[in-house]
Amino acid sequence: MAVQFQEWLSAHSARTELALEVLLDSDQTTPRRLHEAMRYAAQGGGKRIRPLLVYAAGGLGDEKDPAIEVALDAAAVAIECIHAYSLVHDDLPCMDNDDLRRGRPTVHKAFDEATALLVGDALQTRAFEILANADCSADCRLLMISALAAASGSRGMAGGQAIDLDSVGKKLDLGGLQQMHAMKTGALLSCAVELGGIAVDLNAVQMTCLKNYSQALGLAFQIVDDVLDATADSQTLGKTAGKDAANDKPTYVTLMGLDYAQKQAKQLQAEAIASLEIFGDKGQALKALALLVVNRGK
Ligand code: IPE
Ligand code: IPE
Ligand code: MG
Ligand code: MG
Ligand code: MG
Repeated sequence: MAVQFQEWLSAHSARTELALEVLLDSDQTTPRRLHEAMRYAAQGGGKRIRPLLVYAAGGLGDEKDPAIEVALDAAAVAIECIHAYSLVHDDLPCMDNDDLRRGRPTVHKAFDEATALLVGDALQTRAFEILANADCSADCRLLMISALAAASGSRGMAGGQAIDLDSVGKKLDLGGLQQMHAMKTGALLSCAVELGGIAVDLNAVQMTCLKNYSQALGLAFQIVDDVLDATADSQTLGKTAGKDAANDKPTYVTLMGLDYAQKQAKQLQAEAIASLEIFGDKGQALKALALLVVNRGK
């Protein structure tokens, strides 16, 4: 399986980069500086976990159909555009005030703050345009648009970011911290597998199992992000280490301690993997991604 997954990973990582290259506007499009900055934000590396989750969930279907492959590429790029926009805004001086992202200067440093704001705006709308124009069934397009909008907005990622900013210098209880993590990070990760499931028309029971998987994985993902912020160096992370402590953010590490946080991530990883049982061998890529996410940085 390890060798097979490595092949799957490199094929689908390459597929993500190609789909981004094709579906993003060229940097020659007017206004050039904005389009150049959008490409800088979306194409500058990153683990591409969300697109990989789209493709892995898309692998659970029974059929091979060109319209499904189109839907999966559109979903992979759309969710990465939303994610890239969330990072550009997260790094702004009015939010986390970070200079380093994916091993390079953040968008507001490489360009300027107003451009970074517009890059976020424009990547967000491009995401929905890509889904609306995907050459798959109208039902599939509508379900994907609705799912991505819900996960990105005030009840999902943007809402979680609002709680994050409101929590600076405060002590959240564990429930509050979990809710913040589920919204700011979990919502988009869950949406990634949901989009894959929509594209291949999984049934309600399968979608529920996927939801259980992605909710556990989403929380584990942000716990690991909190742990790495406190334990890894900036070069390894490609973003500024120790930023949560410097910004006085409540995290899993500050609230529960490093040891508990690491154990909790492992426990959630096991829960995520257990939710895949009904998929049998077809769930292997999702399982391997759960292992990758929680074991990264080790
Ligand atoms: C970082 O996400 C922000 C969080 C939601 C924790 P990733 O760790 O997926 O960042 P990239 O895309 O690999 O740069
Ligand atoms: C950000 O969480 C989550 C987003 C919605 C972007 P963090 O602020 O912890 O992400 P990093 O550590 O800067 O990548
Ligand atoms: Mg933040
Ligand atoms: Mg941040
Ligand atoms: Mg972080």
